[in-house]
Amino acid sequence: MDIEMLAREVLQKNRRTTSGFQYTVPSPSTYPYQWLWDSCFHAIVLASYDPDAAKAEMHSLMSKQFQNGMVPHMIYWEPGELHVYEWGVIGTSALTQPPMIAYAVWEIFRHTQDLEFLTQIYPGIIAFYRYLVTERDPRGANLASIINPDESGEDNSSRFDSVLGIKPDISYWDHIEVRKKLYSANIGEHPDVSARMRQHFWVKDVPFNSILVKNLRILAHIASTLQDEVGEHFATQHAGLIKAAMREKMLDKGVFWSTTGSEYTKLHVETWAHFAPLFADLYTHEEADALLKEHFHNDLTLRGEWGIRTVSRREESYRPDGFWRGPVWLAPHWFIYKGLQAYGFVEEANEIRELTRKLLEKSGFREYFNPETGEGCGAEEFTWGALYLDMVD
Ligand code: GLC
Repeated sequence: MDIEMLAREVLQKNRRTTSGFQYTVPSPSTYPYQWLWDSCFHAIVLASYDPDAAKAEMHSLMSKQFQNGMVPHMIYWEPGELHVYEWGVIGTSALTQPPMIAYAVWEIFRHTQDLEFLTQIYPGIIAFYRYLVTERDPRGANLASIINPDESGEDNSSRFDSVLGIKPDISYWDHIEVRKKLYSANIGEHPDVSARMRQHFWVKDVPFNSILVKNLRILAHIASTLQDEVGEHFATQHAGLIKAAMREKMLDKGVFWSTTGSEYTKLHVETWAHFAPLFADLYTHEEADALLKEHFHNDLTLRGEWGIRTVSRREESYRPDGFWRGPVWLAPHWFIYKGLQAYGFVEEANEIRELTRKLLEKSGFREYFNPETGEGCGAEEFTWGALYLDMVD
């Protein structure tokens, strides 16, 4: 089976244009809108063989940026009935998602050397990162907060169960009901983020902040390419500050844990988030070795036969087919692949690529997969499988 060809096909088939804006929907039947980190994944893959489509994807994503710099995590280009919770400004959500934008933009530049594109998109992207390190960090702790689980991209992950006061065996639909209450608390274009955190949901998430560090470093390259010294200094400085704060507040027993509340209480739930800091070079080599032993090569925790579990088998909340409560998802696979590569764990990185290929061959471009059986679940014609094309050395 030609997985490469199928990957390109799914991106092509899911491409849409509305009011002159071109974007890719993650799945035509289940996710018929534009999503923030999905668009970044699409652009990263498209950058190597269809850079014009990658540029269009980023332009459409940035076109709905809020005045305060926030980029919404969903854009409802076409009116529809799915997912339209009352949670936003007209036509968008009022939440954001893991900030992969600088990474995607740099991939496009790397492949095209198109300075005009970079210059055009730069003011919006630097405004987005400035928003994250200021408004999402009202106490100046050098950690960005998320105000809803959906902002992590892992909507019902059991990392957040204790914060939401829910039980390990909560159903997918009951979880949505809990989050809907949060959506209504978060409506509006200029929320008082600080108050919302205190009242509703106050989490510093490990993948979100790891992704932020990596993207700030890339933003520094972009700023330097455009000879913006102030921007370069801003990005480098905050990447360093966040790395230090993450090590200080999140590291415990050799791995990083997300935190909640004013005391940075660690959310001791074992999830794939332990691997996310590899993506931003946050572990020492010694720590990374121990992490691999404890979790990558350990079937009792995160390593399933068919891939990396999003939640450890040791957790009471673990469900092999439970959306973000256990299954393999291919964006985490991609982040883990990139992290392993960066640390020189070439064999393990190749394993992730091979597992990804085997899943796609067995079950197709599904949304998530049972780590014990390889069975595909959730949305069909889902684009994240295309990230396999970017699992290259
Ligand atoms: C689901 C995922 C989220 C993704 C969206 C669109 O809500 O949890 O991460 O962005 O689908 O694919």
